[in-house]
Amino acid sequence: MNKKIALTGIKPTGIPHLGNYIGAIKPALKLSQTCEARYFIADYHALNSIKDPDQIRQMTLEVAAAWLACGLDPEKTLIYRQSEVPETFELLTILLAFTPKGLMNRAHAYKAMLQNNKEAERDPDDGVNMGLYTYPVLMAADILLFDTDFVPVGNDQFQHIEMAVDIAQSFNFIYGREALRLPQPMATEETRTVPGLDGRKMSKSYNNTIPLFTPEKQLRKLIMQIKTNSQTIDEPKDPDTCSIYSLYRNFASPNQIAHLKKRYLEGGMGWGHAKQELFEAMNSVLAPMRQKYEELISDPDRIMSILHEGSRKAQALASAKISFLRKIIGLD
Ligand code: TRP
Repeated sequence: MNKKIALTGIKPTGIPHLGNYIGAIKPALKLSQTCEARYFIADYHALNSIKDPDQIRQMTLEVAAAWLACGLDPEKTLIYRQSEVPETFELLTILLAFTPKGLMNRAHAYKAMLQNNKEAERDPDDGVNMGLYTYPVLMAADILLFDTDFVPVGNDQFQHIEMAVDIAQSFNFIYGREALRLPQPMATEETRTVPGLDGRKMSKSYNNTIPLFTPEKQLRKLIMQIKTNSQTIDEPKDPDTCSIYSLYRNFASPNQIAHLKKRYLEGGMGWGHAKQELFEAMNSVLAPMRQKYEELISDPDRIMSILHEGSRKAQALASAKISFLRKIIGLD
């Protein structure tokens, strides 16, 4: 039986934090056990916002090291750099001819920029480069180039996948065949969002994150900072509205989870105790990953050689697809 193809892109724009791990890395790695998985670093997407070459280089290494440290096996899962698969950009050019400008006008990210500019009484297109404007078409190229079935992404990316489907459908309609496979978005977000230190969704933009590979001491310190209510030790506590418990569920065994829940409901447990339990559960999962990450990040050549090797394999797949498409459109 042919395995389904799962593909996702990761922008090298920030140090991976716990929210990325629980919400994106862990579910994508789980999916790679049943699908043929292709995960790549979307460096040309990052270029729209990051113009510092050292930062792009460094973030590429950190993001790749993070995925490898979390358990991505490059022998089984393709890991590559978008920029090393130039067929992507050939497909982008093809797809631009099938993308109505009006479709791009409806993209959330672009509309949000227009709105901000309007509120600040600036020119509506201030700070909008064409890379940002056509961002969804490049993303469609990433996806359609590899005959992707499933795209594991956060909800904020669903609109982009729907646009990829629209573009693929109009291509297929014009040539009267299923030349481009229609992808499906797959929610990776846990049913509950991952809470940050202040209880809001963990996000770089709220400055409330726990970096995934932060040293043990720092991890403990951050966990102790998680905001809690002012209930006394004696009072029974509600696990379902508690950030500590919500994080704990992602790291402890079912038995441990049930046990902590009981302690919440009984009363007699202080927040300090719950935080200590969380630290221990989290640290036992993260410690080996942290060590692997440290090893990898101190050897950038090794990371790059893994990325080159993956990109070479990805390129072989991509160039076959491009040859096929060039015939369809009449270039070959
Ligand atoms: N836009 C995605 C994000 O910001 C990253 C991305 C680029 C992507 N190309 C992709 C995700 C293709 C899935 C498929 O997170």
